Amino acid sequence: MNDLTMTPAAGQQGQATGRDVILSAHDVAKTYQMGRVEVKVLKGASIELATGEWLSILGSSGSGKSTLLHLLGGLDQADEGGGGIRYRQQEITGFNSRQLNTYRNLSVGFVFQFYHLLPELTVMENTVLPAMVARGRLKWYRDRAEITERARELLSQFGLDHRLEHRPRELSGGERQRTAIARALVNQPSILLADEPTGNLDASTGGEILDLIKQQHEQGLSIIMVTHDSTIASQADRQVHLVDGIVQ
Ligand SMILES: Nc1ncnc2c1ncn2[C@@H]1O[C@H](COP(=O)(O)OP(=O)(O)O)[C@@H](O)[C@H]1O
Ligand SMILES: [Mg+2]
Repeated sequence: MNDLTMTPAAGQQGQATGRDVILSAHDVAKTYQMGRVEVKVLKGASIELATGEWLSILGSSGSGKSTLLHLLGGLDQADEGGGGIRYRQQEITGFNSRQLNTYRNLSVGFVFQFYHLLPELTVMENTVLPAMVARGRLKWYRDRAEITERARELLSQFGLDHRLEHRPRELSGGERQRTAIARALVNQPSILLADEPTGNLDASTGGEILDLIKQQHEQGLSIIMVTHDSTIASQADRQVHLVDGIVQ
């Protein structure tokens, strides 16, 4: 097992060691209001992701893994007055809506358990979508043709050449998730945030998806993957556990 307790140089509470920290949550709290009842899901969770590191967050169902990942990706906001999320020394809590959109669109790529592809768009159209949204902010794309080329390369690398014009409903689960990963990577983010990326797949297809994530890691991508499965979590460089709203 590759968990914190066996990483000699590791500090306490999910700290990364050695390299630069690219993304961190420090003392983050999140409370949901369910009618008149307050549900405290995160109670001061802290983690650090080093540049180029693959970190797994392991926790049982309902422990707040998705909640934490959404906060890290700027998809939701932590409780006020608590800690925050830092991306390359910048507090994303302080971002205005334009900066936050840029962060979500360019700095992080998101992969979900249930793919979240748009059903009416083809594989190609789903994949280029984040680049179309980014347009002017993407210095390295000059035009639509270049975006299409980048998407085609990724999809080809993921074995989807023959599926470019297909709609999600015509794809297997594995093909849907590969499309979703291509979409997450089209804008060349620094960080991939994957929420139970194999959770809806059989073991062998899930293994293929993990291999693909591993390849991206080997090419230098920083990754946080959440899962309730310790075998899957053990693929990462390091794992931390989310228990009772705290990263242990
Ligand atoms: N939007 C929401 N409103 C109210 N409660 C929520 C909401 N999202 C999640 N929860 C609750 O927060 C807890 C943690 O959810 P989640 O982060 O999805 O856990 P996990 O991903 O670890 O299964 C659960 O009890 C869930 O019911
Ligand atoms: Mg979840």
